[in-house]
Amino acid sequence: MHILVVASQKGGVGKTTISLNLGLAFARAGQRTLIMELDAQGSVGLSLGLADRARPGLAEVMTGAEALPDVLQRTRDPQLQVLLVGRVDPATVGGFEEALTRGPVLSGILGQLRGEFDVVVLDCPAGLGRVTTRALEAGTHVLTPLQAEPLALRSLGQILALVDRVRAEKNTSLTLLGVILSMFDRQTPASLEVAETLWTKFPGGIILDTIIPRDETFLEASLRGAPLLLMQKRPPPLSRLFDQLATDLLDRIEPKTAEEDDGPIPLLV
Ligand SMILES: Nc1ncnc2c1ncn2[C@@H]1O[C@H](COP(=O)(O)OP(=O)(O)OP(=O)(O)O)[C@@H](O)[C@H]1O
Ligand SMILES: [Mg+2]
Repeated sequence: MHILVVASQKGGVGKTTISLNLGLAFARAGQRTLIMELDAQGSVGLSLGLADRARPGLAEVMTGAEALPDVLQRTRDPQLQVLLVGRVDPATVGGFEEALTRGPVLSGILGQLRGEFDVVVLDCPAGLGRVTTRALEAGTHVLTPLQAEPLALRSLGQILALVDRVRAEKNTSLTLLGVILSMFDRQTPASLEVAETLWTKFPGGIILDTIIPRDETFLEASLRGAPLLLMQKRPPPLSRLFDQLATDLLDRIEPKTAEEDDGPIPLLV
């Protein structure tokens, strides 16, 4: 089971949006996928049009009020399920985070999911606090969205350093899958400059080829409480970006061997 940690040092850069749309794209690519919300804000539920803290989830599993299988939310796609954060009282977020990051709690919950899913996408809260650190310790891969703006670029080193530290101290198999440029605006010189700097300063494939543009369709989708693909009967072309991203990431997670990969496929039969 691959555990993909979606994390970034900055808030509001598109972690939840990417987790949601990418999770659905993984499912469409045939992977049994779980999107697991680790952010007490409950943004995954809100993005799916649910009322604030409407359904039980992780919080109830941790208190023992609910069994894990009972709070896994099924979706329209049989390959995709969602585990929401649950009914976390905004006044006790600190307590929730403390419980989630205590000892082997998170890895224990992930352990129970082994065999049930091929990919678990962990939507982390903003910043490099204890929830993100625990997620990195329990994860197999990291995906970092980087908002195409100078400040985000300057702080990229912080998450790269945390990933290095976790790898050195706790989780030697943690792999940085890549940094994905998000909210890219080709009309804005600063945005273009960030993209250029990324490609020149971080060679070696860390920066993913897929770029997520700044586009109002994302806001429209969140208004409608759906991933891009399901926001309307005829999905916006932008939704295909996530199919491409899912394919690229799966190739990085499980590189094809030369025999599998090579050779033309005859068109004529
Ligand atoms: N590429 C994009 N273009 C335009 N708007 C976007 C894009 N990606 C996300 N948004 C919008 O920006 C806001 C923040 O996105 P999102 O919640 O995914 O970020 P986040 O990193 O998860 O935030 P947080 O750090 O608070 O968890 C949302 O309103 C979302 O709809
Ligand atoms: Mg979020």
